[in-house]
Amino acid sequence: MLHVTLRQLRVFDAVARQLSFTRAARELHLTQPAVSMQIKQLEDRAGLALFEQIGKRIFLTEAGHEMQRYGRSIARQLDELGTVLDGLRGLKSGRLAISVASTANYFAPQLLAAFWRRFPAITVSLDVTNREALLRQLAENEVDMVIMGQPPQGLSLTLESFAENPLVVIAAPDHSLATARRIPLKRLQRETFLMREHGSGTRIAMERFFAHKGITLTTGTEMSSNEAIKQAVGAGMGLGIVSLHTLELELQAQRLKVLDVQGFPIVRHWYVVHPEDKRLSASGLAFKGFLLEEAAKLMRTAHAAPSLKRL
Ligand code: PGA
Repeated sequence: MLHVTLRQLRVFDAVARQLSFTRAARELHLTQPAVSMQIKQLEDRAGLALFEQIGKRIFLTEAGHEMQRYGRSIARQLDELGTVLDGLRGLKSGRLAISVASTANYFAPQLLAAFWRRFPAITVSLDVTNREALLRQLAENEVDMVIMGQPPQGLSLTLESFAENPLVVIAAPDHSLATARRIPLKRLQRETFLMREHGSGTRIAMERFFAHKGITLTTGTEMSSNEAIKQAVGAGMGLGIVSLHTLELELQAQRLKVLDVQGFPIVRHWYVVHPEDKRLSASGLAFKGFLLEEAAKLMRTAHAAPSLKRL
């Protein structure tokens, strides 16, 4: 068996990434001779040179490449072991940073509350933001995962859908179409629609849907929140298209009406998304598992069932 220490492997990985003893020393808060010494010992154990110097630059040798490959796999295994042990300790502590699209704000706190009842020792932070900010947070690896309805194409992301996200047409209860049955899509062309802001997932889905059906809508004021759209629709400024998840209170209080339009609801999905190569922490894995197994059920009870009956 090869007698190397984890410390040697860690120092080696830093030098192999930086291709510089000086930069590796800075990264590890060590002196350069200390780094050189660790590498020298590792090379002695390996019986082969791990770096070669050409001019002023250093490169990995073939043995160096192998050492890097196996070293990383050992580090991954240790990480995984940490995650498994966290799990065995019963997730006694941990942090979780989640970001959600603005519409998901209508159910995310309830889901987090249910998760927190199961894992009270995990501290959760929730950021409610727009799609653009979500994409930046994913790119910068700032959060454990995000919840969104319109994941981007072509990026290296893992996306899993955990619940339906039906979009419906809403009107004030005294609107002339409020009691009409099976309203043809074309009839909507005679109405004015209040629009969510550019970049909203709801808006992207709605525009795609009508473009696909060859229908051009008359659009009125643009508003950057579901609340504003609902208020304006309730005040008779026009029709709106929102996720059914945003409507629980208004439907209960009969302040808004879901119109019975042919082709509606537009059924979309909620996705939990993180970079493909992200190594989720134990709390991250627990939350993702919870979303995939429990969220649809909880959301059906809280939102969709009572509201859908009114469709
Ligand atoms: P949003 O919701 O419209 O608030 O961005 C996300 C989505 O439905 O995709």
